[in-house]
Amino acid sequence: MAQDRLIIGLTGGIGSGKSTIAALFVEHGAGIVDTDAIAHRLTQTGGEAIEAIRAAFGNDYVTDNGALNRTKMRGLIFSDDAARQRLERILHPMIRERAKAQLRQLQDKPYILIVVPLLPESAAFRQLVQRVLVVDCDENTQVARVIERSRMTEAEVRAIIARQTPRAERLQLADDIICNDAGLDSLTKQVSILHERYSNVQSSY
Ligand SMILES: Nc1ncnc2c1ncn2[C@@H]1O[C@H](COP(=O)(O)OP(=O)(O)O)[C@@H](O)[C@H]1O
Ligand SMILES: [Mg+2]
Repeated sequence: MAQDRLIIGLTGGIGSGKSTIAALFVEHGAGIVDTDAIAHRLTQTGGEAIEAIRAAFGNDYVTDNGALNRTKMRGLIFSDDAARQRLERILHPMIRERAKAQLRQLQDKPYILIVVPLLPESAAFRQLVQRVLVVDCDENTQVARVIERSRMTEAEVRAIIARQTPRAERLQLADDIICNDAGLDSLTKQVSILHERYSNVQSSY
């Protein structure tokens, strides 16, 4: 792919602030590709992944409306690694294709951020990016923010965090780090500084 724009992979644990940060970068004019949003579209009613999911998991995992039965699938893959891998083998190549198509559409942007929660787990996604930006925050802050945002219990959130790549390991991948333990003011300042940096570098890493 002829790609001459700087592409930065934005990653971080659940509730660390990825979506909030992506929105701040958009205000600066950055291009954004959101792999969570792509995954959601692929699995909603009539989504491109539905028939493959039906074939692999059976009708029980597809709702009457033809969308992924998220509750049922979440329950399955939470305790069944083989099932999770089966789902990922269906979704990940599709997500990457969609992401690449979106990246091609964003060539007029000064640089592009691609939000990839699973970047630490995915070598294929790491190959798509020239830099890695990790959002880091204290685990208790993460838990509090997710509980506030959703209906999950503390135990559920902690169980998800325990299954994600450990904080220290994720940080080792980072070229840049945003620390999201303070308020939105601090976040806005850190994004402004990174925006200047990303605007001024060429993608020749
Ligand atoms: N610095 C911050 N101060 C206060 N609330 C925040 C801050 N960063 C994120 N949040 C809130 O925490 C929740 C999780 O942030 P979000 O960006 O959705 O995380 P992620 O996309 O990484 O899961 C959201 O409700 C968001 O509004
Ligand atoms: Mg998000």
